[in-house]
Amino acid sequence: MRSYKWGVAFTVVAMTLTLGACGDDDGGDGGSASTAAKPAGKVGVILPDSASSARWETADRKYLSEAFAAAGVEFDIQNAQNDKAKFQTIAEGMLSAGVKVLLIANLDNESGSTVIQKATDVGVPVIDYDRLTLGGGAKYYVSFDNVMVGTKIGEGLVGCMQANGDESGPVVLLNGSPDDNNATLFRQGYEKVLKDAGYSFVADQAVKGWDNTEAKTVFEQIFTKTKGKFVGVASANDGLGGSVVSVLDQNGLAGKVPVSGQDATDEGLQRVLLGTQCVTVYKAIKKEADAAAELAIALIKGDVAAADALASGKAADTTLNTEVPSVLLEPAGIGKAEVKDVIADGYTTVDKVCTTAELKKACAANGIG
Ligand code: BGC
Repeated sequence: MRSYKWGVAFTVVAMTLTLGACGDDDGGDGGSASTAAKPAGKVGVILPDSASSARWETADRKYLSEAFAAAGVEFDIQNAQNDKAKFQTIAEGMLSAGVKVLLIANLDNESGSTVIQKATDVGVPVIDYDRLTLGGGAKYYVSFDNVMVGTKIGEGLVGCMQANGDESGPVVLLNGSPDDNNATLFRQGYEKVLKDAGYSFVADQAVKGWDNTEAKTVFEQIFTKTKGKFVGVASANDGLGGSVVSVLDQNGLAGKVPVSGQDATDEGLQRVLLGTQCVTVYKAIKKEADAAAELAIALIKGDVAAADALASGKAADTTLNTEVPSVLLEPAGIGKAEVKDVIADGYTTVDKVCTTAELKKACAANGIG
């Protein structure tokens, strides 16, 4: 049996960002920079929804906007709000408005592939952003090493279960959406860590669309069926983790059964500090957005060699049996002691995390503020 300790391998890469130019957010027609050398051509970005994770609106939109604005590139960022028809309509609108590059975080492989096909037909390269569209044939992919995200979830959870004295035993898997290739990769990561450490699985369920409300119902059913007999819950993001913790809380078990998450949302970080969630995973979205913007700008300039040089990694499209040139960043597991690192990286603030008297105490105890 391996034992896990919180990795101190958290590296903070400070990036400087120069703001100046204005972007063209959500369809308006602004977006001109004063610099003479600004790349000509607009980038379209389609985000998937705003409910499955806080990240899309609070982090991805913000950092992408900042990156394009800093480069003096016009952009249009829209959110499909978990509606596949809307996703198509937005894409069609962007293509007919003449975007030069399209960045998409798909809602599923089928609708994502249709959009990629339409863009390809009119010569617009597509970058898969965060989620790989299986069978889609996007030119590039920018994301994190998503199996490693799952590994961090598993390692954190194993550490907490071992600390509870549970060296083995039944674990619940509450996975992300079956429509999201990332959910498959996350699961691969935590399933392996948990199995290798000697745990068994008492339930293994996916939550369609990462729907947090649905997650609560699914987990309530699991809880009833298993009579609450499990030593940990691997849930794939902070939204799902929050639903799990609320059900555990109703049963007097919050803080007793380790639960995982992902995204380092404020709520997730707060639960980690309070001990009701064992681990979250921090993905530096600023780096992801910066990488995607850099790639998009190289493509606008028609500099395929530069784009290829940036996308030096590879991600498997298991439907097309191809490897998509990728930028894959490294995630970090966050336990109590690492919450301060997320704040130091500028992802959130002391004020947003340390909001109540109880949290202020936990913050102080963990070197925050
Ligand atoms: C993203 C996660 C997010 C989830 C739900 C995944 O594809 O990688 O960061 O929590 O979708 O939106």
